[in-house]
Amino acid sequence: MSTDVIRFVTACRVCGSERWQKVISFGNVPLANGFLEVADSYAHEQAYPLEVISCRECRLLSLTAVVDPHVLYRTYSYVTSDSETMARHMRTVVRLCREQAGLAEDDLVVELGSNTGDQLLAFRETGARVLGVDPARNLAKIAEDRGVPTVSEYFDSTTARAVAAEHGRASLILGRHVFAHIDDVVDVLAGVHALLAEDGLFTIEVPYAVDLLDRLAFDTIYHEHLSYFLISTLDTLFARHGLRTVHVERLTVHGGSVLVSAGRAEGPWRTHERVRELIEHERCGGYLSDGMYEDFAARVRKTCDGLSRLVRDLVADGHRVAGYGASAKGTTLLNICGLGRDELEFCTDTTPQKQGRVTPGTHIPVLAPGDVRQPPDYYLLLAWNYAEEIMRKESAFLDAGGGFIVPVPEPTVHTRAVTTL
Ligand code: TYD
Ligand code: ZN
Repeated sequence: MSTDVIRFVTACRVCGSERWQKVISFGNVPLANGFLEVADSYAHEQAYPLEVISCRECRLLSLTAVVDPHVLYRTYSYVTSDSETMARHMRTVVRLCREQAGLAEDDLVVELGSNTGDQLLAFRETGARVLGVDPARNLAKIAEDRGVPTVSEYFDSTTARAVAAEHGRASLILGRHVFAHIDDVVDVLAGVHALLAEDGLFTIEVPYAVDLLDRLAFDTIYHEHLSYFLISTLDTLFARHGLRTVHVERLTVHGGSVLVSAGRAEGPWRTHERVRELIEHERCGGYLSDGMYEDFAARVRKTCDGLSRLVRDLVADGHRVAGYGASAKGTTLLNICGLGRDELEFCTDTTPQKQGRVTPGTHIPVLAPGDVRQPPDYYLLLAWNYAEEIMRKESAFLDAGGGFIVPVPEPTVHTRAVTTL
């Protein structure tokens, strides 16, 4: 393990407290999107501690180790999936944001972590002016080529002031699946203050901690995801920085997310009833107490053991197993459940940047779907967030007697004939 590129968390990034509950430790795990070129030896591959703690004051769930963002994001192999599910989701985000922020023609929409520009293209179709901010130069270049102006920097207070000076104030600042990746959230909120119009909205989409806990989506824990938020925790954070939580929508993408909007505390916004309802649900449902997190850790261990046993038993019985979707969460799942080349022959994935490489830590070859000569007997569904779309697309595989192993919340096998535990 290389320690010069990690920072260990001491004070909570939301409330400053140092009173932490240890939740679970997965040991050292490589970076989830660190797909490797095929090599004779992978001895130089780095792995970093993957441990989760919960703040006893504000109930932020956080990783203990923060990997230097330069290591994680300057060239980034994660590109927004061009699946139907994601395209539909992006249109939903446009609709919700337009309804909530009341966007007018020509209003400025700034997206942080704009990736290859898909979400902003969907906004531009509705007449908005758009600007992306993304530190990954390889992705910013693709976005620019597609006509989405993109500043290739981290979104911080300096970048935000420069953007405001050049483009004016934004009616909507959007961060989809990026806020949970940020360590210094306070500086980002200072940037939001500098850039947001008086009546603008700051809208973020983050995995919802309640869904992580309820659905046991423990494989969504990896180094890029520094924070797992409850609405109560976000509300605490916004209030400390002059913002008011205004709206929240629960969404099904990535195993359960929330789209949360905040406006200036002194602005025209009122808090929607649903925000209060969710905060109340979190309090009454035990999400603010140690017991919830002790129980989570025990359930994770049980699922992991069950999945390892299931896959090993299938292989021992002579079945061929492969991975479907070399997702980032697949990296966590395979590494912490101890599933590797002895169990999975290959992983298939539609992302060109991953094909021809091997999976982080487990070194399973990643194949383009068209390069799979002989389908396996079972696919372990590493991209379970697309289960419905994938099973529809792979109906011929199911018709031929193939099975999908869905790993969470508990391992289940789906075949045309039966669904078994
Ligand atoms: P993604 O949902 O982006 O999640 P993560 O954040 O965990 O990486 O990952 C899905 C992966 O699955 C992505 O690499 C693309 C791949 N994929 C397929 O190979 N086939 C498919 O039909 C779909 C929908 C996704
Ligand atoms: Zn805290």
